[in-house]
Amino acid sequence: MQRGFGFGGFIEHAIGSENSGALLQNLSKDEKYMAQALLAAMKSNGLSSPNPVVGCVLTDAEGNLLAEGATLAYGDKHAETVAIGNLKSREKMKGGTAYVTLEPCSHYGNQPPCAEALLDLGIKKCFVACVDPNPKVNHKGIELLKNKGVEVRIGLMREEAIAWNLAFFSGLKRTRPLVAAKWAQSLDGALADSTGKSQWISGARARKYTHWLRAHYDAIMVGAGTVLADFPQLSAREIESVHRQPVKVIFDPEQQLAGLPADLQQKLLSSTLSGGQKIIWVTTSPAKAGAPTKSDNFYNLLVRSEAVLEDCLDLLSSKEVTNFLGRPIRSVFVEGGPTLLQGLLEQNLADVLHCYVSPFMLTGGKTIFNAKGKYPAVSLDSAVRYKTMTVHQLDDDILVELVPKDRFQDYFGGV
Ligand SMILES: NC(=O)c1ccc[n+]([C@@H]2O[C@H](COP(=O)([O-])OP(=O)(O)OC[C@H]3O[C@@H](n4cnc5c(N)ncnc54)[C@H](OP(=O)(O)O)[C@@H]3O)[C@@H](O)[C@H]2O)c1
Repeated sequence: MQRGFGFGGFIEHAIGSENSGALLQNLSKDEKYMAQALLAAMKSNGLSSPNPVVGCVLTDAEGNLLAEGATLAYGDKHAETVAIGNLKSREKMKGGTAYVTLEPCSHYGNQPPCAEALLDLGIKKCFVACVDPNPKVNHKGIELLKNKGVEVRIGLMREEAIAWNLAFFSGLKRTRPLVAAKWAQSLDGALADSTGKSQWISGARARKYTHWLRAHYDAIMVGAGTVLADFPQLSAREIESVHRQPVKVIFDPEQQLAGLPADLQQKLLSSTLSGGQKIIWVTTSPAKAGAPTKSDNFYNLLVRSEAVLEDCLDLLSSKEVTNFLGRPIRSVFVEGGPTLLQGLLEQNLADVLHCYVSPFMLTGGKTIFNAKGKYPAVSLDSAVRYKTMTVHQLDDDILVELVPKDRFQDYFGGV
């Protein structure tokens, strides 16, 4: 990926940095316009899930910027239509160029075909970052443009565009949601100090990016240990615009929350509900007496104790959960703690890793990922390998984003 881009888009832009333009200066003219289309898409962060969030930039024949647009809410206008609606004069688009982060659609769904709308403008050239894998579109939008004499160039900033919409791409291949694991660690690999405190491991800019990612993914999941230690709010805040709050998933196989006194349960539910979002409580047995009860905002998801994590991920995309939420979960952002993360990583269930390394030692702290020595040691030969996609400095913290090597080809291979 180009420097500065990650799975949440252009990172400095995500956190509202004023000097974010510097990183874009080394790009070619066409890359700059495609980057601008991606930045436009970022304005709709999380808005159109389960549909992809697409960006579009329109220039005249001389390469002057005329308009841009991004996908609106699910079922609403696509990026191309929004950009066209933002044009002051359609005339100027004759012989012009469109830059789109995903192949323009060619079918009548909730919206008319975007490829035809671009043809109506009289464009001469179209840059497409990546082909739409949706069988209804897959190359048909591109063919429609080509057949009418438009020069189509595919692949400009392709990895950046796929990374941005990865939940959409993986959702077309499997029913289980995309799993993004995030943690912050000290140089010596601790996720919390010896008292269990972890709140301020990473700095303010790293935390902002985390808030951005919370708004990007459909759900946040944390283990019961983290809930009991931190009583986290699990909401997206500290960033400029938040279109929606993620669903909260509390992973609590042994029902530790049921043992909490009523006032603490109330505190937990009121703080986690502060973003107005629904909570899914994952347990391996029916709720004990004294546990929070099912309501419009609270759902108890029962999973099999033999395969807690896999079952949990599979059931998060079940009809029952979709009905409870009123929309499907296509991505889950797992924010810890170490026991839950270790379980996911040991079983290679995480699709994307967002890891912050902060510049201090935390001797005696809770290290990753051998919190409870649950898993046997692995040799270098049998270790799960990752591909580093992003390295970005946020003040003194280093953000590294990775995907498992065995899934890289699946996500980023092909045309
Ligand atoms: N630095 C960071 O990024 C960060 C982020 C979040 C939390 N934290 C810190 O992490 C600490 C809490 O972490 P934690 O490890 O105690 O708890 P945790 O990971 O939040 O939650 C563990 C819960 O999940 C269950 N669990 C996880 N994986 C499982 C598996 N494969 N099979 C069955 N059950 C599974 C555990 O059951 P069992 O008890 O049966 O194992 C337990 O109920 C706190 O100190 C918090 O501040 C740090």
